[in-house]
Amino acid sequence: MTKMWANSTALYQIYPRSFMDSNGDGVGDIPGIIEKLPYLQGLGVDAIWLSPVYASPQVDCGYDVSDYRTIDPLFGTLADMDALIAATHKSGLKIVMDFVANHTSNQHEWFKQASTDRHSPYRDYYVWRDAKLDGSEPTNWISLAGGKSWTWSESAGQYYLHSFMPEQPDLNWDNPKVRQEMCDILRFWLDRGVDGFRIDAAWPIAKSYEDEVVLDAKHPADYGSYVHDKCKNGPKMIAYMKEMAQVMTEYTDAFMIFEYYTDEHNKDEVGEYQELSYINPLVSAPFVFDMFRLPWHASARAKRMAELYQRIAPGVRISHALGNHDQTRIVSRFGESQARALAVAQLTLPGMPTIYNGEEIGMSDYAVPKSARQDNFQAGGGMGGRDPERTPMQWSDEAHAGFSTQQPWLPVNVDYKTVNVAQQQHEPESMLALYRQLLQIRRNNKVFRDGTYSPVDPKNGYVWAYQVSNGDESMSVYVNFADQPQKIASPAGQLLVSSVFAVESHSIEANYTLAPYEAVVIQKEKL
Ligand code: GLC
Repeated sequence: MTKMWANSTALYQIYPRSFMDSNGDGVGDIPGIIEKLPYLQGLGVDAIWLSPVYASPQVDCGYDVSDYRTIDPLFGTLADMDALIAATHKSGLKIVMDFVANHTSNQHEWFKQASTDRHSPYRDYYVWRDAKLDGSEPTNWISLAGGKSWTWSESAGQYYLHSFMPEQPDLNWDNPKVRQEMCDILRFWLDRGVDGFRIDAAWPIAKSYEDEVVLDAKHPADYGSYVHDKCKNGPKMIAYMKEMAQVMTEYTDAFMIFEYYTDEHNKDEVGEYQELSYINPLVSAPFVFDMFRLPWHASARAKRMAELYQRIAPGVRISHALGNHDQTRIVSRFGESQARALAVAQLTLPGMPTIYNGEEIGMSDYAVPKSARQDNFQAGGGMGGRDPERTPMQWSDEAHAGFSTQQPWLPVNVDYKTVNVAQQQHEPESMLALYRQLLQIRRNNKVFRDGTYSPVDPKNGYVWAYQVSNGDESMSVYVNFADQPQKIASPAGQLLVSSVFAVESHSIEANYTLAPYEAVVIQKEKL
C-alpha cells in the first residue's frame, strides 16, 4: 500500500534523461527507473516525480510537449509507463508526472493549426497580438530563455507569445477551452493510475498585457533589466491553479505541487507562498525555494521561516527544495558541510520536502565543456546554462558512473569515482547515510510532517534554531552557519542526528557545542 499524501515523508525528483539508461543509448529511460525502484525504497522516500517524458521535439529537454497523451520514444513506450506506474505502486511508492501547463511545443498539433490558419478552432489556444504601430512587439517583455517574448509568425500574420523559447508558445489560459483540455489531460493520467502532478512554470499562466517597468535601460536585452509583474502572476493565476487542483478532488488521494518562484521585488514574498499554499490545502502545495535562494545567513533564514510558518497553519503543506534541474546544486552553491547542514533543516521542517536526484549523494555541478552543452536557453534570460546540474546520476565507480554502457548525453562529473551510490552505501559518514537517517526519523516522527514551528533565539547571527512540536512531542533543531564551534542553550534529550558525526540516537546533556557547520536534531525529554 502506498501512503496517503497527508502522511508522506518526502518526494524525490527524477530527471529521467540522467537517472538510469537501460538500453545503452546514453539517455536515461523509464525501464531504467523501474530498475532503480529498490534503491528509492531503501532511501526512504514515499513518492517520485518524473520530469517530462511526453512526446517532445526535446528543444527544452521535454518541457516542450508535442503530445501530452503519449511517451517520447527516447524514454520508452506507453506500456513502459504503465509498467512503471504499477511497479512504483508495488514498491509502496507514489508517482507524480510533470505537467507543462503554460506552453506546448510549436510542433503540437494545436499550434501547427493555429499558426497556419486564422480560422482554426485552435487559433485562440495561443496568444496572438498585432505589432505596435511602429511594427515592434506588442509589449517589451523578455523571455526567461533569453531574447524577446514575442515572435512574428509569417504564416499567422501576427506575433505569438512565448515566456520561454520561441519553440514553446504560451497557451492562452484565458480561453476556457484551453483550461478544459488541460484538465482533461490531467484526468487521462490520473485514470491511468498516476497519483499527482508537479505543475511546471505556474507563474506565467496568467498575465496583464502591458509593458514592464524598465529598471536598467542600458541593457534592454536582459531579463534582470525589468520588473516582472505584468508577464506573470496575473490576477487570474490563482483561479486557474484552483481549477487544476479541483481535478485532484475528483480522485482518491491525488495531489499537485506548483512550481512557482516568488518575485524578489515583492516586499511580501511570504504572502505569495501563503496564497499558493491555501489554493486547496488538501490536494495541493507550492514549492518553497528559500532554502537555496536565501543567503548563507542564520538570522535571515530564521526570520523568513518564522514568518512563513506563522502564516501557514500546521498541516497546510509546502515543499522545501534544495535544488532541481534548473538550479545550481546545493553543494556547489554553499559547500558540502553546508549542504549536509541544510539537508537536516530541509528534512525536519513541516511539510513535504522534495529531494532532487543526486542531492542525497552530494553531487555537485559539473562545468560541462562548451562542445558538450545541451541546454538551449540563452544568456540574458532568467534561466540558462543548466547543464551542470543535469549530469548523469553517479551510481558507481564503473565506466560512465554505472549510468550507461555508452557515452551519456551529458558528460559524467569527473568526481564520480569517489562520489557515487555504491561507495556511499557502506560508509556510515556518507551523505547517503545522513539522508537515510533523516528520512527514517522523518517517517517515524509525524511531528516533522505536521508539527508547529517555533523560532528559538531568532536574533542569533550564527545559529538558526527552531522547534517543531505537537502536543508533548518536541524536537529541537540547531544549524550552525559559522566555521567556528558554537555553544548553544539546547535542552537535555536524545541526539537523533548530527550532520557532522555519524551517530546512533543517544542521550546528551543540555548546552551542546556545535562543531563548525554542524546541524543537530535533539528530541526533548518528555516531562
Ligand atoms: C520550468 C522547468 C524548466 C523549463 C521551464 C519551461 O521552470 O523546470 O526546466 O525549462 O519551466 O517549461
